[in-house]
Amino acid sequence: MLFQPPVPEAYLRLPAAELHERIAAAKAELGARLTILGHHYQRDDVIRYADFTGDSLKLAQLSMSRPEADFIVFCGVHFMAEGADILARPGQQVLLPDLGAGCSMADMAGIEDVEECWDALRSLCPSSTLVPMTYVNSAASLKALVGHNDGCCCTSGNADSVIGWALNRAAGDHDGCRDKLVFFPDQHLGRNTCYKLGVPLDQMVIWDPTQELGGNSPEALRRARVVLWKGHCSVHTRMTTEHVRQVRAEYPGVKVIVHPECPFDTVQAADLAGSTEFIIKHIKEAEPGTIWAVGTEIHLVQRLARQHPEQTIVSLDDCRCQCATMFRISPQHLAWMLEELVAGRVHNRITVDQETAHWARKSLDRMLELSPMPTAAPAPRRQQELVPGA
Ligand code: 13P
Ligand code: SF4
Repeated sequence: MLFQPPVPEAYLRLPAAELHERIAAAKAELGARLTILGHHYQRDDVIRYADFTGDSLKLAQLSMSRPEADFIVFCGVHFMAEGADILARPGQQVLLPDLGAGCSMADMAGIEDVEECWDALRSLCPSSTLVPMTYVNSAASLKALVGHNDGCCCTSGNADSVIGWALNRAAGDHDGCRDKLVFFPDQHLGRNTCYKLGVPLDQMVIWDPTQELGGNSPEALRRARVVLWKGHCSVHTRMTTEHVRQVRAEYPGVKVIVHPECPFDTVQAADLAGSTEFIIKHIKEAEPGTIWAVGTEIHLVQRLARQHPEQTIVSLDDCRCQCATMFRISPQHLAWMLEELVAGRVHNRITVDQETAHWARKSLDRMLELSPMPTAAPAPRRQQELVPGA
């Protein structure tokens, strides 16, 4: 985790109304020089200031749609800001309001461990096609390894098409060793998507970086079609089949919709699974009166419940777990960062070194080619739309 110096005391004591006025004033002062991006898991008192909201895929695409902005303030987590820096035009600066906003899943795939895995698979299967793929929830160094080895990034919003592309490339058998998709770092997104695309569970193995050969025999690795890194999201792994059973008992007719970072059995027990944008779309388009149990981060679930009073919306997870690192971005951090920008001082810039960015960009560009924006980039939200719960 990067070190975030404390925000000056004065910001911590500001009443909410004054904080709001000052953020709005700084935003107005910076005008088109500033774009604020907000992930759906941000708290309401932060996302209300986002010019654009979205899931990881949409935000990556939108980050490139504002070349006139000198500053992109990313209300999300570190890997998202790194991704935006890699995709940014030269001179554009990407800032993260709290440097402590990391992602525990991304941290589960340290680059030395990943290199060890990659080298071991390469020497076990020297003639096979190995396609590396990383979920965007990963460090730039891992994205660079993937780009260097002709692989691709994916998000939960495009996993079906991008993993489908990789499985088509890795469909042969050479010297008794299967071609493989090697998927980092979320075993659940990898397993759920590969299964959906027709790969049986017994053709997938887990790579545990704490074990020799990831805890597998050489034979099992040669036979495998998919190697899944042993990583997970601490929020979504909480969602179990027992939650699904309970909610179905309590709300007859309920539709269970979950994020594909949830474990396999939970996704199988649910009615629908998809990215945060997918979840929002399905709830928005549902018949009024539909009952939903939503298996994802609590801030999004609560916002959906408020925005759709015509539906009944409950959290699938009874503990209503939040993403602790997304929550680190606060209005106090935002006010401090924006007022400092107005004063000409830049804090918390996220940069990726040129060599890493070059290779990481290859993996991101390929992903973006495989998942074009469905429509033209939307216009930023107007100031009067920046209201709580929006
Ligand atoms: P999406 O934004 O792709 O839905 O993913 C959720 C997530 O965990 C982001 O960290
Ligand atoms: Fe990482 Fe999970 Fe938080 Fe997303 S919700 S940022 S995957 S810890």
